[in-house]
Amino acid sequence: MIDILYRSRQKENLDKNVLNFLSSLNEDANILSYDILGTQAHCLMLHKIGILTSNELSQILSSLRKIKFDSKNRGKIQNIRSNELYLSEDIHELIESIVIQDIGLDIGGKMHTGRSRNDQVILDIRMKLRDDIIDICELIINVIKSLVRKSKEHTNTIISLYTHLQQAQIGTVSHYLLSYSFTLLRDLERVSSSFEKNNLSPLGSCAIGGTGIPIDRNYTASLLGFKGLSENSIDATSSRDSLIEYLSFLSIMMSTLSRIAEDFILWSTSEFNYIELSDKYSSTSSVMPQKKNPDPLEIIRSRTSIVMGMLMSSLSLIKNLPSGYHRDLQDLKPLLSKSTTIVKESLSIMKGVIDTFIVNEKNTCNSANKSYGVSLDIAEQIVIKYNIPFRKVHKLMGALVQHAVKNENISLSEIAKEDVNKILKFTKIKIDVDELMYIIKDTTPEKSLLLRNSYGSPNPMQQKDMVNSIEKSLLVYGKVISQRKELLDAAFDNLEKEVILNTIFDNKKKIKH
Ligand code: ARG
Repeated sequence: MIDILYRSRQKENLDKNVLNFLSSLNEDANILSYDILGTQAHCLMLHKIGILTSNELSQILSSLRKIKFDSKNRGKIQNIRSNELYLSEDIHELIESIVIQDIGLDIGGKMHTGRSRNDQVILDIRMKLRDDIIDICELIINVIKSLVRKSKEHTNTIISLYTHLQQAQIGTVSHYLLSYSFTLLRDLERVSSSFEKNNLSPLGSCAIGGTGIPIDRNYTASLLGFKGLSENSIDATSSRDSLIEYLSFLSIMMSTLSRIAEDFILWSTSEFNYIELSDKYSSTSSVMPQKKNPDPLEIIRSRTSIVMGMLMSSLSLIKNLPSGYHRDLQDLKPLLSKSTTIVKESLSIMKGVIDTFIVNEKNTCNSANKSYGVSLDIAEQIVIKYNIPFRKVHKLMGALVQHAVKNENISLSEIAKEDVNKILKFTKIKIDVDELMYIIKDTTPEKSLLLRNSYGSPNPMQQKDMVNSIEKSLLVYGKVISQRKELLDAAFDNLEKEVILNTIFDNKKKIKH
């Protein structure tokens, strides 16, 4: 059993309950591999400035090697030694303890020169965040691609557009799916922008006010693939705003998924019956064998609330912390990692739902046909053809719809000629009754889409343009993300080379990954 490493002032060890209470060790499994990478870079730098000899560096690096992690897959841990033997408060202390126990205090005791856990923890968080942001951006892109693919299958599938959940205008299924794509593109843009803000290295800020050791912050930053440095050591160690901004972007993104889920849940009810979810993405009832429930979508909806709650927790957590590191900040880590996990899972579930649901085209079309959703399109043709004020035509159409509804919901084209005539007279509109009846008959849902070709409408030509613009944006983001990946991979490949170069291996054998 090793004593708590840092207790130079205290005579006693921490009470076990207290240690359990304040330890972040379990949560820190998420940052273990980043902590090792950060420590490798730090020690290479300590060697470069003459604090560590080549032999000392090599021993520390070999010892770190024994704490296995998958260097190709920075976020994943292969194993960690049992923490039972070590009374550590967190991963930083645990790793230092393991190294010291392995190679002794004389050498191992040098690895923490010129840094603090305060710059170390935010370094690890930012490194993990960069990888998470890349993953999430790719997952959002995949969802958008699925939406676009599905929308291409349904460019001509008629469906009602709704406002107040009442049938409004005639639209197409693709117009809906593309609308989600545009929202998700903004989510993508937001989440992606978090990368740059977090791509600045805090390492070397130390506890709060820097160090007298002649460290080279730029060297460690470049070894770890950072674009630059957090300039102010107080800001670097105590600010968490860029993390909270990321959480807020995740919350907004989840609200998009939740709204999509809500539409799909509604559309999959027997009453709407617009879509059928795949069996793979639906649950059933323990007692009602006929049930097909949209549980995965419901869980996306509920997890959205959980992510939003975690954003609120994180805001409350920082709002009255004075400058400088406080242990409260530790509790941000699970909020970040849990939200990130939820977001990744939700995005991949949503993609699966989109890829596999079936549109009941007959139902979407029949329901739109019965909806009087062409009323505005008829009115607009009258406005154009006869130059009659829109407000007057609005009255005419309202009276026609009222008549149709009263007569067992017949369609507008089924209204008898004498009734149309009566309504024309009543509304004092001077149009030939036959011409009006022709316009009504001629304005089918399909025709209404062709007539309504304002920019952004469900008109087929407009939708083509939308698909083009979404695909163009996806290409741009795809490139940005793969460039970021390449830069990080190159940095970590280089770090790995440096580590290997500076490590003397037993029997001169290279360690295999
Ligand atoms: N476990 C801590 C955290 O997650 C690391 C930093 C602790 N620093 C300190 N001075 N107590 O935030």
